[in-house]
Amino acid sequence: MGKEVTCGALTRADEGRKITLHGWVNSRRDHGGVLFLDIRDRWGRTQTVFNPDNTEAFRTADAVRSEWVVAITGTVRLRPAGTENPRMSTGEVELAAETIAVLNAAEPLPFEISDDSLPDESIRLMYRYLDLRRPRMLHNLELRHKTVKFIRDFLSERDFLEVETPVLMKSTPEGARDYLVPSRVHAGEFYALPQSPQQLKQLLMVAGVERYFQIARCFRDEDLRADRQPEFTQLDLEMSFVNQEDILRLAEDLFTQLTETVTTKRIQTKPFPRLSFQESLDRYGTDKPDMRFGLEIHDVTSRMAHSGFKVFSSAAATGGTIRGISVPGASTMTRKQIDELTGMAQSFGAKGLVWIAVEDLDQGPDGYRSPIAKFLSDEELSSLTEALGAGNGDLLLVVADQRRVALDVLGRLRSHLGGALGLIDPEVMAYAWVVEPPLFEWNEDEDRWDASHHPFTAPMPGQEELLRSRPEEVKAEAYDIVCNGYELGSGSIRIHRREVQTDAFRLMKYTDEEIEARFGHLLRAFEYGAPPHGGIAPGIDRWVMLLADEPNIREVIAFPKNQAGVDLMLGAPAPVDERQLRDLHLLPRQPVKPQS
Ligand code: AMO
Ligand code: AMP
Repeated sequence: MGKEVTCGALTRADEGRKITLHGWVNSRRDHGGVLFLDIRDRWGRTQTVFNPDNTEAFRTADAVRSEWVVAITGTVRLRPAGTENPRMSTGEVELAAETIAVLNAAEPLPFEISDDSLPDESIRLMYRYLDLRRPRMLHNLELRHKTVKFIRDFLSERDFLEVETPVLMKSTPEGARDYLVPSRVHAGEFYALPQSPQQLKQLLMVAGVERYFQIARCFRDEDLRADRQPEFTQLDLEMSFVNQEDILRLAEDLFTQLTETVTTKRIQTKPFPRLSFQESLDRYGTDKPDMRFGLEIHDVTSRMAHSGFKVFSSAAATGGTIRGISVPGASTMTRKQIDELTGMAQSFGAKGLVWIAVEDLDQGPDGYRSPIAKFLSDEELSSLTEALGAGNGDLLLVVADQRRVALDVLGRLRSHLGGALGLIDPEVMAYAWVVEPPLFEWNEDEDRWDASHHPFTAPMPGQEELLRSRPEEVKAEAYDIVCNGYELGSGSIRIHRREVQTDAFRLMKYTDEEIEARFGHLLRAFEYGAPPHGGIAPGIDRWVMLLADEPNIREVIAFPKNQAGVDLMLGAPAPVDERQLRDLHLLPRQPVKPQS
């Protein structure tokens, strides 16, 4: 199959073999008349050596430049003692070159192929085929391949069927805008690209597949961030006759075994901790907590409600909350550093930030440094210190505001401080489950309930009746898998009865006509024997991003779009011919010229 030997394979044991290496010229060094070409391919690098006595080969080797594609034939020999390179897998040997064939020359590259010096990301994306030559990028592609292969093997062993579902589909709501594809044959009508295969996997359960998965491409027109792409890949899976526990256990086994197989990372806690949605917000200020470090948020409202400090007492009196964190060892922060934190808190939406440095508890009230210490009684200071679990050397940060704001601000400060203070072990994967979110969120602008996961999610068993009377109290039988501050996947037990699904749609203010037009197929299917079912969909890009220690998902996608949704290499999106638009009924047809 192609090459007899790769550029990463040769060792001592190959001494004396005559072989041909194919690859790219990684570097070229001239050492007093002897020429060294390092040849690179996907598997590694091998040093080749050209001696001037071999006139013809030497002349050719002397003319080649970086990234030329060559084939070099020669004999494997041990490197002279003292010149071995322990950083290369082939570092003990070299190829004494006899002939060299140039298979293709290369223009000088727009940037060097090296993991150490990266050009601007836009240049990398424009020449992605060059960027992908870097060992780190090839490693990421390989890790992604191993991840997907592991998933396929793991689920196949458990009797799952991989089923493909269409990309030309009908709109399925996951909370983003759809990408639409105009139909040529049916003027004025559109397919939607799937935001996920959600409804189809449910229909596969009605079909009796029972255990389904798919490595599924999803498309969402939404604001892009470091962990979002307009098209991305999910491991989409669904099972029938299961409860939440079955799915969490299966997913947990998969996450654990995969992590331990394809990386050397350590899983922080097994089995994965479970937090209710409420608890996650209260302790971490977010529904995707980074649990690799503490800095947990505490509620000090009741302790501070009657404080002489107006910021506290008036927040408590107006339905607000007072929350704080204790930052270990941060009492020595300078005024400038603390002002930066305050500025940050304000940019996150806080009105201000109370800070109290705990310097020496033995000195009572004199042991605190804070501009507001004078407004707090001795008892309040020590009560606050106790509630936040602080000791000498710690810095207390307190925010008074509406619950949503106070938690969000502290959650974001917490994430910032975790990184800034070096509290994060990059070798750890802190997986956790966030369960029992509310089924609905009130949509102020639209005056209706929105599904907080998606509209097919089932209420907790026994709460179906509450749908009609007190929807705000209904909890969803839904779960998110989170890790290191990211939501990796989410899923739920689904509604499988027509009446309950219809009630849910009505709460979301769909009219009966809209329900029929958008979801008639699903509701009808539920009338023909739909089994109870549920599933989950981890995002593969995000997962591999964390496994690969990358800061954004573009690093683990071969050909990603940039933050503006543009493929810089292909130049997409791009204008199209008027004729194409007309064929698709997107422009009025040209009026037919009257015949003269
Ligand atoms: P959800 O919408 O939460 O659930 O998506 C599941 C997971 O998909 C990944 N993801 C993304 N990754 C990259 N770029 C994006 N724009 C993007 N959007 C989502 C995330 C996310 O956790 N059908 C349901 C799942 C189910 O109920 O079974 C769904 O799609 O990792
Ligand atoms: P002020 O009374 O507005 O001058 O604020 C006094 C101190 O309290 C300043 O250090 C502010 O940063 C802080 N502060 C003001 N409002 C809040 C708030 N809602 N939560 C926390 N700290 C606040």
